Amino acid sequence: MKALVLAGGKGTRLRPLTHTSAKQLVPIANKPILYYGLEAIRDAGIRSVGIIVGDTAREVREAVGDGSRFGLEVTYIPQEEPLGLAHCVLIAREFLGDEPFVMYLGDNFLVDGIADLVDAFRGADHDAQILLTKVAEPRFYGVAELGPDGEIVALEEKPVHPRSDLAIVGVYTFSPAIHEAVRAIRPSARGELEITDAIRWLVDHGFRVHSHLVSGYWKDTGRLQDMLECNEIVLQTIEHDVRGTVDGFSEISGRVVIAPGALVENSVIRGPVVLGANTKISGSCIGPYTSIGEGCVLEGAEVEYSIILGESSITGVRGLTNSLIGRNVEVTRSMDSPHVNQLMVGDHSKIQVRA
Ligand code: G1P
Repeated sequence: MKALVLAGGKGTRLRPLTHTSAKQLVPIANKPILYYGLEAIRDAGIRSVGIIVGDTAREVREAVGDGSRFGLEVTYIPQEEPLGLAHCVLIAREFLGDEPFVMYLGDNFLVDGIADLVDAFRGADHDAQILLTKVAEPRFYGVAELGPDGEIVALEEKPVHPRSDLAIVGVYTFSPAIHEAVRAIRPSARGELEITDAIRWLVDHGFRVHSHLVSGYWKDTGRLQDMLECNEIVLQTIEHDVRGTVDGFSEISGRVVIAPGALVENSVIRGPVVLGANTKISGSCIGPYTSIGEGCVLEGAEVEYSIILGESSITGVRGLTNSLIGRNVEVTRSMDSPHVNQLMVGDHSKIQVRA
């Protein structure tokens, strides 16, 4: 069995972060979201992985390399244009050969991994297996309608009027029958070859498509709130591990990871919190549920429920919450005029300031 990981796309909903990096590389608890997927694939006993890459190919290649670090053999498959998930299967035809495979969307996160799902598929005689989960806003996803015996009655991509609250999770298993389906379908209204349409084609043509309800936690991390929620879930599972330096004036509570070279002085860290290597925290209050990347400097700062990427600094700013801050960002207090906010932010940023 092989794996096909999708790490292309433009990540428009996470701009401006995705102007400079791939959405699949945004970190959750200081580890790129994509790594969780690759580890889940390895833990399911799969070795050969094709990764579809687009505009951000360089960053993805740099981050994943040949895959040996994960115990995987990685082949990169460039996609010139983001023409849809089914298009990814089309261009991966040669890599996939006639083997069954798991297709994994690189921005999806399944807390329980995929080993059970892959085992179930190996033991069954299905042409496709999809995972479904109940969501509050199905119109943002592929949606399935099931009949009385759990059989798939309808599949629709991002319907305006969803017929159920069952979203299709971005992890699928396929037999080689899917190759015929992706060749048969036509682009959707948004101009993409939808995998949902290819699966519906399989259902309509009498192939065996099985659906399975996911009970564990699942997130498509395409949007800010999802990223932050995912960060919370992962931080709940971290093991306390302090390798950096914490001075005698600081107070640490709850589970905290402090990487080597990090320094905490005169601060309160309320876990769960992860601090990256060479990050310096002084006179600050951090946490709970906060991940701070490597090489950051926080002075007189108060941050909770947030993700801060590497090499950023926050000085004299309190009450930062539910925030996602990119790399090399500076957030400071305006000293000259305490009643104004001065901003220099990139395109597509989202800022909420106290009125
Ligand atoms: C894609 C699929 C959709 C699925 C979702 C899961 O949507 O097209 O059917 O429910 O992934 O993450 P996208 O995230 O590309 O909009």
